[in-house]
Amino acid sequence: MTYVTSPGEPLAFPQGFAWGAATAAYQIEGAADADGRGPSVWDTFSRTPGKVRGGDTGDVACDSYRRYPEDADLLASLGLSSYRFSISWPRIFPTGAGPVNQAGLDHYKALLDTLAERGISGAATLFHWDLPQALQDQGGWASRDIALRFADYAAVVGEALGDRVERWITLNEPLVVTDLGYRTGIHAPGIADEAAAAAATHHLLLGHGLATAALRAAVPGAQVGITLNLTPVIVTPDANGSAALLERARLVADAKHNGVFLEPLLFGRYPEHAPAAILPPAALIRDGDLAAISAPVDFLGVNYYRPQHLRPGDPANLRLREYPPVPGTEGGVVEYYPAGLETTNMDWLIDPDGLYELLVRLSKDAPGLPLYITENGCAAEDYPNPDGKVNDLERIKFLHQHLEACARAARDGVNLAGYYVWSLLDNFEWAYGYQKRFGIVYVDFPTGRRIPKESAAFVAEVVRANAIPALPANWPV
Ligand code: FCB
Repeated sequence: MTYVTSPGEPLAFPQGFAWGAATAAYQIEGAADADGRGPSVWDTFSRTPGKVRGGDTGDVACDSYRRYPEDADLLASLGLSSYRFSISWPRIFPTGAGPVNQAGLDHYKALLDTLAERGISGAATLFHWDLPQALQDQGGWASRDIALRFADYAAVVGEALGDRVERWITLNEPLVVTDLGYRTGIHAPGIADEAAAAAATHHLLLGHGLATAALRAAVPGAQVGITLNLTPVIVTPDANGSAALLERARLVADAKHNGVFLEPLLFGRYPEHAPAAILPPAALIRDGDLAAISAPVDFLGVNYYRPQHLRPGDPANLRLREYPPVPGTEGGVVEYYPAGLETTNMDWLIDPDGLYELLVRLSKDAPGLPLYITENGCAAEDYPNPDGKVNDLERIKFLHQHLEACARAARDGVNLAGYYVWSLLDNFEWAYGYQKRFGIVYVDFPTGRRIPKESAAFVAEVVRANAIPALPANWPV
């Protein structure tokens, strides 16, 4: 398939827009015991029977620890100018505290040099969920001390790689860590304890603040930000005067999904409407914490997958696609999947308008702050057809719609500086194991062979034109 972008395309992106693809260490690297790497919480969790589908682990994954030159070639072949990857903390601090493992640092130096040779810059995430097990054994994010350990790690990595990294992302999606790692336990470290989750919220934020200061001390001029998964909450009132009830529910849901991390970061306070149980108790918040947390960032990374839709409804009478009431809201409001919106292979709603709304909202909350989409993409049932091609037309449609939302937002004044597709490669999708494929490049896991999907060609054309091509009118999906 060839894509044609007409000159003067209205859906063009600003000049200098950063185009990239994103990955995370535990999801792609494999080489779990190589060069002195210590165990992480995801090693422990995935090796515990019943935690990950199929008993899958990240032991081998995409073997990107060894095959990174090939992956850098793939990025270059698509014309991407930036690669968002994460640094594996247990490769740098195998036992949590000291000593530093030089071989771990050398690996990321080599990766960054390999990228630079191909004209690709690096956006490095310091924590994409693979905490050293040794630090979990001391309480993990539920303990305050970890924020200091995180700052030490940031300083070491900053000193070693500061001349090579273009942008630093302290944390990836801290809400997923607290919600799935500490509240429900369906992610590592598998803890289901509301109080631990609330404490982890504060210590992740504090870790971000201290790491930001440590990076700035180690790397003059460092560009430092954080990546949040943000979920616009969209309400649809009915004819029975439900607007006030829905607005209260919206405020609570928004505080829970977005405000709990956004407000401390941007405004130095926890959100007023959040359910008390998710907020850290006052005793955990020391003088100076919120000032450290809200030190201005250079950019905000936004991961967008789906919004949440709420409407009046009777939780006792839920139908298909209607979910239980949003925790912490009054009765009579349910989450639902609007008729007419499709879902992905994760059963996640496809709603690009949610992305547009989110970007506009952020540009009001943080006027002028550069925003990067640090993840956006979808899982699909990809497979090589008899010609050896992977025709992931659903993904092309998904990316087309979401890029369109980005271009519109930029045109309407949002300071959107870049977009990273999730993901470069099919990879270890956490508790789903290898069952869910998010890549624009297919990975044959038994051999590690990479096959760029049809969506990779689509992305390459978007990058080349810095604009979105029209899809053929008879697009099949
Ligand atoms: C995000 C994670 C990323 C990946 C995508 C599908 O929550 O940051 O690692 O799993 O979802």
